[in-house]
Amino acid sequence: MAEELELRSAWEAAGQGQVFDFWNDLSSEQRATLIQQCGDVNLAALQETWASGPQLATIDCREATRLEAERFSPLEPSDKSSIWRKEGEQAIADGRVGVVIVAGGQGTRLGFDKPKGLYPVGPLSNRTLFECILDRVEERARRLVAQPLVVLVMTSDATHDETVEYFQQQEGHWPNLDLRPFRQGTMPALAADSGRVLLESRGRVALSPDGHGGLVAALRRTGELERLSERGVETLFYCQIDNPLVDALCPELIGAHLSARSEMTTLVVRKNDPAERVGNVAMFGSRMAIVEYSDIDQENARRLDEQGELVFWAGNTGVHLFSLEFIASAAKESGTLPFHWARKKVGTIDAAGDPVEPSEPNAIKLERFIFDLMPHAARTLAIEVRAADYFAPVKNAEGAASDTRATCQAAMLEQGRQWLEAAGASVAARARVELAPSFGLDPVDLKSKPDLSERAFEGDQFLT
Ligand code: UTP
Repeated sequence: MAEELELRSAWEAAGQGQVFDFWNDLSSEQRATLIQQCGDVNLAALQETWASGPQLATIDCREATRLEAERFSPLEPSDKSSIWRKEGEQAIADGRVGVVIVAGGQGTRLGFDKPKGLYPVGPLSNRTLFECILDRVEERARRLVAQPLVVLVMTSDATHDETVEYFQQQEGHWPNLDLRPFRQGTMPALAADSGRVLLESRGRVALSPDGHGGLVAALRRTGELERLSERGVETLFYCQIDNPLVDALCPELIGAHLSARSEMTTLVVRKNDPAERVGNVAMFGSRMAIVEYSDIDQENARRLDEQGELVFWAGNTGVHLFSLEFIASAAKESGTLPFHWARKKVGTIDAAGDPVEPSEPNAIKLERFIFDLMPHAARTLAIEVRAADYFAPVKNAEGAASDTRATCQAAMLEQGRQWLEAAGASVAARARVELAPSFGLDPVDLKSKPDLSERAFEGDQFLT
């Protein structure tokens, strides 16, 4: 009771007492929920964020220099990539690598009524996004590790229960993985005109996940960071649930990251057009950072350096590798990652407590982004990959021009074709072939399969 009073007076003193306006109408259960929601909010950080205003670009894109990157395509193995592969496989076999998949987003653009990870994308298999990513990790783990490999799955209030239920239904499907769903934090939505915390109903604050950058704090808060370290994990492979082409335990990438003794490694793809709407990875002095496309004017987007090369050529893929030590030190500083402001429509209630569905953005949502860690890393590595090998995100509902299930499935089928052809098989022009990781993990693996070079694929086939 004393705690409850203390909490309420702290919120009132901060000018946020409106969240208790309907206190007298609430049941004791509803009151307990509201108190718990408020207790979980870092009120001081919230007030500070509002007071300091939206995070405007703190870096000047005119000061950026071109990113130097290693290159890797599984279709073009080299002496260097063979060394990386060995080093990566050794690290995986030693239990020094873990995977984290962030799957806490609300997936508003996709408009799917379940967590995005449950969205079926396999072009012939109908496998879900979770299956596409985890089947590959499972197959690599099956071949390399003695103990189940840790795969952390960051969920949010919006996705946690259904994700856990889904993993329970899949029991036994990924026997070599230690799948660990854990919940990210939330941030209240603020009224855009006043900064006051919005209520979603009389007894509930309007909360939303605190962005993929919420990973850093959530790893620490849930104890997962400590557990990783106790298990001897030194490298964390980070990927996002909406990119089924990612090979989240790719030994070459892990080997490259380790050889460079990098704290944060990032995969980039060459932009198709200077004005493309993606985050741009560039250098600022000795530090790597992202510049949002919205922060680059036309002239700078096309700027060439002294060698005549485009400065902003590298698009972010949202695939990163971290040294655990680096993540752990970032997690100690709660303010390492800034909050970005997004104006959104958030359902709320009016002064009478009746629901209001805004027709225009009425609220500020606050999110942290994982890539804001880049400039904090003293040692970084960028690896240029082909989107066709590693990057085909599903962001939008069917019918949109880009990043849909259809574009993603086309990329998966094209990958299957290219890999089989690289292994010497022939694939008819009309044939559609989807590869399961159990059939082949990558072109190097496929080449070691006997007789594949003599095979011809004619029709539609899911190869397992
Ligand atoms: P996006 O920024 O594309 O967001 O997330 P989203 O929620 O999937 O989709 P929209 O913007 O609402 O349409 C990129 C990745 O980061 C994860 C998502 O689950 C996705 O894997 N993410 C995003 C989180 O884990 N938590 C968040 O708070 C936000």
